Amino acid sequence: MTELRVVDVTEEQLDSVWQVRIRSFGPGGDRDEWKKNALQFVADQRILGVMDGADLVAAARIWPFEQWWSGRRVPMGGVAGVVVAPEYRGRGVGSLMMRDVLKRCAEKGYPLTALYPATTVLYRHLGYEFAGGRYKFSFQAADLRTLGGTGTAVRKAGVDDADRFLELASKAHAVRRSSGPLIWPRSEIEAWLKDEDNFAYLAEDGFVVYSWSDGDLSVDELIAGSEETARALWATVGSGSSIATTVHAYCAPSDPIHLLAEHEAQGDARINRWMLRLVDAPAALAARGYPEGAVLEVDLRIDDPELPTNTGDWHLSLADGAAQLKPADPSADAVRLGPRGLAALYAGTPPATLRVASLMAGGEDQDPALDAVFGGGTPYMLDYF
Ligand SMILES: CC(C)(COP(=O)(O)OP(=O)(O)OC[C@H]1O[C@@H](n2cnc3c(N)ncnc32)[C@H](O)[C@@H]1OP(=O)(O)O)[C@@H](O)C(=O)NCCC(=O)NCCS
Repeated sequence: MTELRVVDVTEEQLDSVWQVRIRSFGPGGDRDEWKKNALQFVADQRILGVMDGADLVAAARIWPFEQWWSGRRVPMGGVAGVVVAPEYRGRGVGSLMMRDVLKRCAEKGYPLTALYPATTVLYRHLGYEFAGGRYKFSFQAADLRTLGGTGTAVRKAGVDDADRFLELASKAHAVRRSSGPLIWPRSEIEAWLKDEDNFAYLAEDGFVVYSWSDGDLSVDELIAGSEETARALWATVGSGSSIATTVHAYCAPSDPIHLLAEHEAQGDARINRWMLRLVDAPAALAARGYPEGAVLEVDLRIDDPELPTNTGDWHLSLADGAAQLKPADPSADAVRLGPRGLAALYAGTPPATLRVASLMAGGEDQDPALDAVFGGGTPYMLDYF
C-alpha cells in the first residue's frame, strides 16, 4: 500500500467505483443508469474517492439537498454510496475519506450533512448522531378506498406539474413546521415524474405520488391542504384495493392519515434511522425555523475535533424567529456539547436524554428553555438516498 490520497473522482474512474460498489452493496441496479447519474456528481465535484497508487479503493458522494427544519429550508449535503474495497477495510480508509467529505460539505456551503448509516460507528466517530427516521406505515387499501372526498377534482399529473408539486409541498411543510423532509434537485423530481412506473395525481391543494411495490401499492408522498383533498387523494390510491390489499405509505408519524383512516396502520411500521451533523454551527442555527415566540439566551461550549471552526465558546440568542451564534467569553455555566450532542439537540432530542447519554454537560438550568426551542415534531424523511 502506497500513501493513500483522497481525490475528486473523474469520469474515467467511475467503472472502478462501480466495481467497489457491487463488492459493497451486492449485485443489481442498472450500471448505465448509475453512471449517467454519477456524471453529474463528477461535474460538480460531489464524488470523492481514495487512491492507492493508480487504484481507486473507496468512494462516497454528496447529494445537493435542502432539508426542512421547523418549517424552514436549510441546505444539506446528503452523504451516500460510502464504499471501501473489501481488502482495504478496517484500516481507516473510510474515516480518511469521510473527513474530506465533511470538508467538501463545508466548501460547498452546506451547514448540515445527513446520511443513512449502514454502521453507526464510523459516522459517530466523525460527529454524526441519530436525528430522525424514515417511517413506512401499511394501511388496508379497502380502508383508504372508502375515505370519500368524491366532490374533489383529482387529475393525472406529469412532468409539467413539478413546480406546482414543489410549491404545495413547501406550503405544507412551512405551515406544519416540518423537520426532516428533503427537497430534491429539480432534475431528480422531473426524472421521477417522467418514469411511467410512477403515478402522480394533483388536486387544487394537494398531490400524491405512488407506485406498485411487489403487488401492493406504495405512496412516496401525499400532501393535502384540506380534509377533502386528503380524503380524495388517499381514496384514489385505495381505489386499487381489488388488486392490492395493502397500501404502504412513507409519511410522518403525525400525518393526518393516522387520524382519518378507520383502522390504525398495521403494527409493523418500519423505521430507517438517519443521522445528522452540523458542518457550520452558526449558519445551521441561523437557517432553521423555531417555534413562534420562542426566546433563548444561552452560553455554549462546543468542542468539535473534526471541524475546528465549530469549536469555541459561543453565545446563542434567539428572538423574533432569528437565532445568532456568536463567539463569547468562556462561561462556567455554559452548556457543553460535542458535535453529536449538537446534532441531536438540533433535531429536538430532549436535553435530559442527551445528559444521560453523556452528549451534554453543564448549564442544567437551561434545559427547559432548550427543550422549548428545539423540541417539537418528530423529524422524518420520506426518501432514502
Ligand atoms: C462501512 C465501511 C465504509 C467502513 O470503511 P472502513 O475503511 O473499514 O472504516 P474505518 O477503518 O475507517 O473504520 C472506522 C470505524 O468504524 C468501525 N467499523 C468499520 N466497519 C464497521 C462495521 N461493518 N461494523 C462495525 N464497525 C465498523 C471501525 O471499527 C472503526 O472504529 P474504531 O476506530 O473504533 O475501531 C466499509 O466497511 C464498507 O465499504 N462496507 C460495505 C458498504 C457499507 O456498508 N457502506 C456504508 C454505507 S452507509
